[in-house]
Amino acid sequence: MSVLRLLPKRWRERIRNYAPRGFPDSPSCGAFYDARARLFRDDEAASLEYSSLGVQRRIFARAVDALPPHGRVLDVGCGLAHLHDYIIDREFPIASYHGIDVSAAMLDAASQRIGGRENVSFEQRDLATRPMESSSYDVAYVISVLGYPIGRDPMASMLSLLRSALDACADGLVFTHVMDGRSNRTLAFPTDPDRLAEECALVLGADATIFDNGEDFTYLMRLRKSSKR
Ligand SMILES: C[S@@+](CC[C@H](N)C(=O)[O-])C[C@H]1O[C@@H](n2cnc3c(N)ncnc32)[C@H](O)[C@@H]1O
Repeated sequence: MSVLRLLPKRWRERIRNYAPRGFPDSPSCGAFYDARARLFRDDEAASLEYSSLGVQRRIFARAVDALPPHGRVLDVGCGLAHLHDYIIDREFPIASYHGIDVSAAMLDAASQRIGGRENVSFEQRDLATRPMESSSYDVAYVISVLGYPIGRDPMASMLSLLRSALDACADGLVFTHVMDGRSNRTLAFPTDPDRLAEECALVLGADATIFDNGEDFTYLMRLRKSSKR
């Protein structure tokens, strides 16, 4: 049982809703999620900072519409690896699933859930500083991972991670980001979809497509290695 159960409800809510302004580097971000994974081990949505697992599944649905899972799937910042379950439930024909995360506690929990399954593997890795072999996966998903500013130049940190993820894929990737103006939440690192798509094209040389349903503050972007490169 989590120690949170011993606290009054309003304290639990305050801890659940606590969001830092950013992190100096990705290991600190990992430490934050380590703490959440341990504190909220009875509440998976809370540990992942989703308001509910229904919200998470709606984002997964948008992600697989934008880029259907196939072949070797890389889940960057996999958390509890719920994306794996979603892909299997929807019967996408994948060959393997590899989840990476900077948080050891998230990976422990994910491995306990589904670690024994065939063609499922996990690894503690910060993709921004430890890239993977080029085209060693077919598709990658980076879902609800990039919402906090990291380091002194958050845009450069985000693009560096996306560069590594895109290079690791033979086909392409989908990532999520957040925009201002559609939520009363204070977002730590909002971006403008058109401007971010331009940056991805310019800096990563990627073909970038925005997927925005006009309602949510979360939007998605699909990146493919540009045919012009
Ligand atoms: C909000 S959770 C989302 C988990 C999962 N993608 C989902 O949607 O359920 C964000 C996860 O990203 C991980 N993460 C953040 N930065 C990372 C990085 N640079 N490399 C790998 N994992 C990272 C965190 O440790 C955390 O587990």
